[in-house]
Amino acid sequence: MRHLMSPLDFTIDELYDLMKLADDIQKNRSKYAKACEGRTLATCFYEPSTRTRLSFEAAMLNLGGNVLGFASADSSSAAKGESVSDTIRVISGYADICAIRHPKEGAPLVATSHSGIPVINAGDGGHQHPTQTLTDLYTIRSLRGEIGQLTIGICGDLKFGRTVHSLINALVRYPDIRFVLISPPELVVPSYIRDDVLKARGIPFTEVKSLEDVMPELDILYMTRVQRERFFNEEDYIRMKDFYILDKAKMELAKENMLVLHPLPRVNEISVEVDDDPRAAYFTQAHNGVFIRMALILTLLKEAGSL
Ligand code: NCD
Repeated sequence: MRHLMSPLDFTIDELYDLMKLADDIQKNRSKYAKACEGRTLATCFYEPSTRTRLSFEAAMLNLGGNVLGFASADSSSAAKGESVSDTIRVISGYADICAIRHPKEGAPLVATSHSGIPVINAGDGGHQHPTQTLTDLYTIRSLRGEIGQLTIGICGDLKFGRTVHSLINALVRYPDIRFVLISPPELVVPSYIRDDVLKARGIPFTEVKSLEDVMPELDILYMTRVQRERFFNEEDYIRMKDFYILDKAKMELAKENMLVLHPLPRVNEISVEVDDDPRAAYFTQAHNGVFIRMALILTLLKEAGSL
């Protein structure tokens, strides 16, 4: 049974095929309108979500399939003390594929060992968020033609931001990628990314505090929200939450074709005045999430023999 826990679960060639399929889906919507007829996706979300859950559900509905699930731990039997393992065992009898988001790192992985259906990690604590990464890669490829030869600035909460960890893991496999990691010293990337991924693979990267200073060298700026829910105390969050605010003045320092990405939701880190800048790609990115998730659902269901 094939699951998706990390973007590394797909080879570069498999990611290429997934993105080609997403392109075809985007161009020929009607061809896929019944592709998952009679199949069901369960979305088990123990943490808040707008884009990830709804884009998964939109993806399955666009494929002619059904969806069921819960949107918070309070509305499931988790509130009564049920384990993720028991929940997934039961859901394996109700659905053909399942997307799980959980505040505990590794919870979706635990689910895989008790599941009879493919499990997709839709975000586990501050660890990984592979389907956001698929969306990010697909957006970069659609807007830049290919993935490679890029200086990528990642700015904000690099410590707790799971989208950041998955994105770095995925991008190091492409040619000539250089990272500029922009954060306050308290929110730098964890050592399992700096040492075990970047240093271990000899990937060029710098860690800086000032966004202004590095703006002119970036091909992509990936902004992130300070992850309030992962902080141990509110004071630290308040001190750091407005550390970076991307506004028109800072955009003037950037290359004419630099792309601004953000997994969303944004709080204050991108001023709304940037939304009309042609380089602001974050809403396109959010829309792309549906097509790549359609491609993912189709691929995993086919491999599981359910299609
Ligand atoms: C991200 C997440 O949940 O990690 N959101 C998303 O899925 N697009 C980013 C965030 O919450 O800041």
